[in-house]
Amino acid sequence: MSHAAYVFDAYGTLFDVHAAVRRHAAEIGPDGQAFSELWRAKQLEYSWVRSLMGAYQDFWQLTEQSLDYAFSRFPSADRKLRKPLLDAYWTLDCYPEVPAVLKGLKERGARLAILSNGSPDMLAAAVHNAALEIVIDDVFSVDTVKTYKAAPAVYDLVTTRYRLYPHAVSFQSSNRWDIAGATKFGFRTVWINRADMPDEYRDQGPALILPSLESLQFGI
Ligand code: LAC
Repeated sequence: MSHAAYVFDAYGTLFDVHAAVRRHAAEIGPDGQAFSELWRAKQLEYSWVRSLMGAYQDFWQLTEQSLDYAFSRFPSADRKLRKPLLDAYWTLDCYPEVPAVLKGLKERGARLAILSNGSPDMLAAAVHNAALEIVIDDVFSVDTVKTYKAAPAVYDLVTTRYRLYPHAVSFQSSNRWDIAGATKFGFRTVWINRADMPDEYRDQGPALILPSLESLQFGI
């Protein structure tokens, strides 16, 4: 069965969230990986807690706050890197297979979109930096509904705008919790298990698990 629309999560799926710290690996020192993982974990925790509280702040604010928290937890990391790290996050690298895979889907007539927690500005910058404007038809940001994934209202942005039933949408994410939310909503889901993590949220399982986007093909 081919799907009317292929919708992609942004951070961790198309764009490598650890690329920012990697660009400054030498200056950050041996705690770089732990620092980057804490930065990401706190950014996501803030998104879930703020959704539950009903106290939305945009994803760029959460990205700054979680970076500041990581600096507090790793005093060895030089705070002079704050601006360079944020600049790098604004222009994250995409994963190497992304341009060719999106182009291939596009050539076969698929509609391609991003659905992300990211603020509209940061998503536009990332898409531009990776030169993906020519293949991405639409960028949906949670900012429209002022709550974060995995709230159903977020996934509903796509089906409402495209006037599609959820099962006509193929949704790709590397974040297993995002796959759980999208599956519960009714999307056909593909978990891009880049880090070879164990499965979880067993009652909300993906239709397909792939190690990268490489083997995602139109009609599958
Ligand atoms: C996003 C988060 C999950 O791009 O990274 O929506």
